[in-house]
Amino acid sequence: MSRNAFITGAGAGIGREIAARLGRAGWRVTIADMSPATAESAAAEVKAQGGSAQAVPCDVLDSAQQAAALDQHLKAYGSLEAVCLNAGIFESGPFLDLNNTAWQKTLDLDFTAVLEGTRLAAAAMEKSSSKGTIMLMASAGAFYPAPFCPVYCAAKAGLVTFVRSAAEPLSEKNIRLLGLCPGLISTALGKAIPAVDDFMAGRSMQWLTAKRAAEAAQMLIEGDLEPGALMMLHQTGEIFEVLEQEPSLRLIQRAPSPAEVEDSMVQDAENSQHTLPEAAGSSADQACHGKDASSCDSDAACGSCQRSNGIVSCMTQEELAYTSCLPLQAPSDCHKASTAQSCTSAHCEWCESAAVGSSCYTEAEAKRLPSAIFSCHSSVVSS
Ligand SMILES: NC(=O)c1ccc[n+]([C@@H]2O[C@H](COP(=O)([O-])OP(=O)(O)OC[C@H]3O[C@@H](n4cnc5c(N)ncnc54)[C@H](O)[C@@H]3O)[C@@H](O)[C@H]2O)c1
Repeated sequence: MSRNAFITGAGAGIGREIAARLGRAGWRVTIADMSPATAESAAAEVKAQGGSAQAVPCDVLDSAQQAAALDQHLKAYGSLEAVCLNAGIFESGPFLDLNNTAWQKTLDLDFTAVLEGTRLAAAAMEKSSSKGTIMLMASAGAFYPAPFCPVYCAAKAGLVTFVRSAAEPLSEKNIRLLGLCPGLISTALGKAIPAVDDFMAGRSMQWLTAKRAAEAAQMLIEGDLEPGALMMLHQTGEIFEVLEQEPSLRLIQRAPSPAEVEDSMVQDAENSQHTLPEAAGSSADQACHGKDASSCDSDAACGSCQRSNGIVSCMTQEELAYTSCLPLQAPSDCHKASTAQSCTSAHCEWCESAAVGSSCYTEAEAKRLPSAIFSCHSSVVSS
């Protein structure tokens, strides 16, 4: 089987170590980096260790350059079994300083360019009939707040959600989209910000090495984790798969009482008497209830528009089934019809089989409370 990899930002730091490691494992590697000199020296290192590599100058902020670099890869190696979208920067300057305009570049490079790289890599894989993995370089900062780089953390959190969300459409093209979330690594990027040292010292944290990050990357690329999986290289050096826990939300405030919700519903209905623009509510909604879908207060399933009990979501059965685990035949009056948006458990079919959670709603409450959406697996007690 061909093993050809394309790695951005592979001239230095973690990307360089990934290239070296994959090169030793028999992968042929394209080293794409905005710095031609470091790209050349990284390629020379791979070759010196018996591997095969080419250096391609490429600034990933420029979509045309990313596309051209991928083309150059296919010209040299013919297929693309692994893509590591690794190039990234830390943010510079304090975010709250209104004179600081550099923060936008963090989003452009650490988020937008990676999404664009995913699109371009997927197209290149499709064009060359390749099957393989696209690995996005996120960060543990996506999960653990780091006050010295809030924009960086937000960009990386965006990548995490993107991996989880885009994995399915990509897997239909035989592409496995994965994310790697390393802790702090002692590269030029990691060491660039003095605040990091204080942050780490205060938490008795130890630097991780780029070698360890590359080891995790190889494990992810060559392993068999499912599309959408996230791997974390924890600051302890341990490697974890990040699971989507249930419930993944910590309850901060219970939902309002049914009476309060009733009042709010009335208020919403009063506030919804204006004419909505076409896009905000379908003509069926308007004709059926005389209101837009979000304020539909009909307790009964509506025969004419096929809408289910609409207090919370006013969705069709098809819509509900799409956004939840409910089978299509789920009864429209089951409380899950309004609460299953966050349900991903294989065991959850009906209320009775829901796991017992920390917050309880009566069936009547579950039917009425928008906040019940977040308590999909909470126990539901009969009223
Ligand atoms: N170092 C850490 O603590 C750490 C932790 C978690 C995640 N990461 C992520 O790992 C990735 C690599 O980080 P690193 O520590 O190796 O950084 P680094 O600065 O050591 O190396 C980054 C490489 O990317 C290249 N690069 C920068 N901008 C580019 C651009 N616009 N186009 C193409 N190449 C570009 C640089 O020339 C350099 O060779 C980044 O996405 C970073 O966010 C780093």
